Amino acid sequence: MLLPDPSLEAMRAVGLRHHLPISDLEALLDLELPIPELRPHDLLVRVEAIGVNPVDTKLRAGKGPADDRLHEPPLVLGFDCCGVVEAMGPLATASGTWRVGDRVIAAGDVTRQGCNAELVALDHRLSGRPPQSLGAAEAAALPLTGLTAWEGLFERLGLSPEPTAAQQDQTLLLIGGAGGVGSMAIQLAKRASLRVIATASRPESQAWCHELGADAVIDHSQPLAPQLVALLGKPDPGSTPSIPWIANVADTDGYWDQMAELVAPQGAILAIVGNRGPLDQTLLKAKSARLCWEFMFTRAQYGTPDLEQQGRILSRIAELVDTGELRSTAHTNLGPINAANLRKAHAQLEGGCTVGKVVLSGWGL
Ligand SMILES: NC(=O)c1ccc[n+]([C@@H]2O[C@H](COP(=O)([O-])OP(=O)(O)OC[C@H]3O[C@@H](n4cnc5c(N)ncnc54)[C@H](OP(=O)(O)O)[C@@H]3O)[C@@H](O)[C@H]2O)c1
Repeated sequence: MLLPDPSLEAMRAVGLRHHLPISDLEALLDLELPIPELRPHDLLVRVEAIGVNPVDTKLRAGKGPADDRLHEPPLVLGFDCCGVVEAMGPLATASGTWRVGDRVIAAGDVTRQGCNAELVALDHRLSGRPPQSLGAAEAAALPLTGLTAWEGLFERLGLSPEPTAAQQDQTLLLIGGAGGVGSMAIQLAKRASLRVIATASRPESQAWCHELGADAVIDHSQPLAPQLVALLGKPDPGSTPSIPWIANVADTDGYWDQMAELVAPQGAILAIVGNRGPLDQTLLKAKSARLCWEFMFTRAQYGTPDLEQQGRILSRIAELVDTGELRSTAHTNLGPINAANLRKAHAQLEGGCTVGKVVLSGWGL
């Protein structure tokens, strides 16, 4: 076991000193906290850069896992990082996969302290190698949204990550194309030979979807069916377009009726955002259509036997970046990791109209 340097007693972090929920952004504070204790499978990672995600703002607002014991203050948020291994637990060492000094990307575990800190403890099985071609800030944009898009498309919907004849030019409707998850999903689905129709409501977000490779972009603030008819035509007079795969990475309730109308017989809908109210499942019955859920923290939260799959996915995404088949979705770097900049990041995400990923890198005021 490689233990942390005993001279390291405290670390800088940005966190919350009070119980959740907290609406006031001023509650995000610069703190000095003890360095994390390692579990046997952990890497102690010195954080170089972080990505900020809606899960951070949702947790702050008390919309995370219900068990309050998981979120005792002081609470450190943040689940996307790139950093360097500084120490290891005995099982991480025994795995032979990691050495001190290795660079890591990970989205970690929503039930543990996060990575808005100089040091974070990360299960090595959930961690991957960053692309060699990217700096820390660009790499920190990848893990959480990359895992969500990959698991959603290829494990939940059952699509192949590689191009196949069956998928060639088949339509994926991606609702919410310009956000962090959508930006990865466009690229992964295009690489897998699908025709991607993404949705975005503003000129900037529409241009971003095109830049990432979407074949067409429609406006989710307007009814979707007429826009799809204009693009795809009608299969029969009076009928609506028939979409084999719909990935909704924005608002499950808000598009439920439209998705039920548009999904093809025997088609599938992917949802990643928890519903606010009941969803009428009977709308899918006549079509034998299915709803699939993706939650990228499922493996970590339940300790599933295939935890390593997340490390493998991250390393595969990094390879695809290095071969030029995927690009980082980092869009806005707000500067060093501190409370003032994280407040700005939370405010931007809560505004709901960021494009790609918001990242922070380095330490300083
Ligand atoms: N289940 C999981 O594992 C998982 C993982 C990651 C994220 N999530 C959840 O998925 C959602 C998206 O995450 P993200 O990181 O992609 O968020 P994000 O980066 O904050 O998404 C921003 C984008 O959302 C779009 N948007 C806003 N309102 C919309 C609406 N009503 N319909 C369609 N698009 C809309 C905006 O596009 P326009 O500006 O063009 O309107 C904007 O570009 C969040 O709720 C997040 O918590 C779940």
